[in-house]
Amino acid sequence: MAAKVHQFDAVVVGAGGAGLMAALYASRGVRTAVISKLYPTRSHTGTAQGGIGAALGNLEEDRWEWHAYDTVKGGDFLSDQNAAGVLARDAIEAVIELEHMGLPFDRTDDGRISQRRFGGHTNNETKKPVRRACHSADRTGHMILQTLYQNCIKEKVTFFDEFQVVDIIMNGNVACGVVAYEIDTGELHVFHAKAICFATGGWGRCWQTTSNAHSLTGDGPAIFLRHGLPMEDMEFYQFHPTGIYGMGILITEGVRGEGGVLLNSKGERFMERYAPTIKDLASRDVVSRSIYLEIRDGRGINGKPYVHLDVRPETVNRYLAEAGESRRIDAAYIESKLPDILDFCRTYLGVDPVKEPMPIAPTAHYAMGGIPTNIDSEVLSTPDGNVVPGMYAAGEVACVSVHGANRLGTNSLTDLVVFGRRAGMRMIEYCKNTNFTPLPDEPDGSVRREIERIRNANGKAKPHEIRAELQKVMMDNVGVFRSEEMMSEAVEKVRELKHSFETDLKIDDRGTRFNTDLLEAWELGALIDVALVTAKCALERKESRGAHSRVDFPDRDDVNYLVHSFAWLEGNDVKTDFSRKVDLSLEIAPTERVY
Ligand code: FUM
Repeated sequence: MAAKVHQFDAVVVGAGGAGLMAALYASRGVRTAVISKLYPTRSHTGTAQGGIGAALGNLEEDRWEWHAYDTVKGGDFLSDQNAAGVLARDAIEAVIELEHMGLPFDRTDDGRISQRRFGGHTNNETKKPVRRACHSADRTGHMILQTLYQNCIKEKVTFFDEFQVVDIIMNGNVACGVVAYEIDTGELHVFHAKAICFATGGWGRCWQTTSNAHSLTGDGPAIFLRHGLPMEDMEFYQFHPTGIYGMGILITEGVRGEGGVLLNSKGERFMERYAPTIKDLASRDVVSRSIYLEIRDGRGINGKPYVHLDVRPETVNRYLAEAGESRRIDAAYIESKLPDILDFCRTYLGVDPVKEPMPIAPTAHYAMGGIPTNIDSEVLSTPDGNVVPGMYAAGEVACVSVHGANRLGTNSLTDLVVFGRRAGMRMIEYCKNTNFTPLPDEPDGSVRREIERIRNANGKAKPHEIRAELQKVMMDNVGVFRSEEMMSEAVEKVRELKHSFETDLKIDDRGTRFNTDLLEAWELGALIDVALVTAKCALERKESRGAHSRVDFPDRDDVNYLVHSFAWLEGNDVKTDFSRKVDLSLEIAPTERVY
């Protein structure tokens, strides 16, 4: 059956914060559609908890320059400094704009947006933690998502909900549309567009323990890779230090921002040893590694691979007093600032964090790498900065690269509103100066054949079996600590799984309506391609930097590796290039990272 064809000036793929912000801005100038595999308010932005970073200085002195510096330092100096500057400067206006759109932020006593401490946010002069995370209890992402969705509806953005984008359409080197699979009917739709923005989120589902929703399967990067387009900095994948032990569900860094502390089996506040100045609020790579070292050295709780996160008022007040702070908290304060966290722990663990410490362990959380873009969210086709005409990306799927080797907490929400906005504005400009590029013949041909191959697959390997093996090898071999041997083994294993996916897949449901068996298999193909590129880039970066920590190359190597990686998928192989230099325009020189 022929695909239905739709035409819009701008098409945004993904309805999380970046997609909605891009669509909201684009819709002010051109006809805009959003295509999302989920109902928009179920997008993963809704799970972001602790806050959005912006140097408003509402509770104490703060400056955007400090925010930019912390972003670069937190990124272990791999962040492009022009991007960090844009992020920190634009964050202030973007947060106030969200407030004016109706976002219900928590308030200070005098009615301003409330801010809390978060990992790596510092006063650059005193080196002490600074309150920079603007929050709405521990539901900040949820509030951003609802606010942006309501505003998109107000601006009459057209939504195609539960349509899964499965391909981009190129005419030569120009992007001119996407192909989407309608989940309800199994029909393919062609969306002809002048400008396309990918905001499809991350790929935490490559790992066994993750804070990411089931939908985060790397669809966007996989589609790009299959068109011969590169990914950037894929070796950098962040493990958030505090996931619920055994489940991976996120426990916000806001818990530590409110005064919570990490304790080992001896009841020691071990971060005092690893980060003497900033302690539990060191950046995430540092805290995750410290937790693993405590566990390795036998100080996990009850000999198990987890530690405690303690936010009981008596514990917090003891450490506040020790630090000479006059502030004290009580149970009602915790209930008001962290309601969802209390709810998760009470529901899933039977643990009440007001009375007991929470069992936590690091959880796969965020991709620093992704589709390469410049600071105007235009997609790059080469390491030297050529762009793909008509193609944009924003949010976690994009690598601007603002987060470098390790993202600071709250900067994901900042990134998606700042660079989503820039994508929307740039798309208007592009659409106003461009005609529609004609669609090629049979634009949905190759993806239709792939979907039919999957639908009729009659081998022996079920998608969930291949996925479980993939997640295990990525968790064991491409996790917090890495080595040549572990990663070589991972590359080989992922190649085997790719072969099995291509030649021995088994699908049970051959139907058209809500065929989740088929879609999960298609998503598995995406996970495999993204995992292969991640493992290969990690193998080839022979240094330790940010979230990429190699036991065989423990030092950062600024002589050879102050560069971004670019990677292309070539069949079963991955080609890499380490020539793109880091932008140093804020003149922040790499130094040792001391916390
Ligand atoms: O800890 C958190 O609330 C997570 C925030 C983030 O990933 O930025």
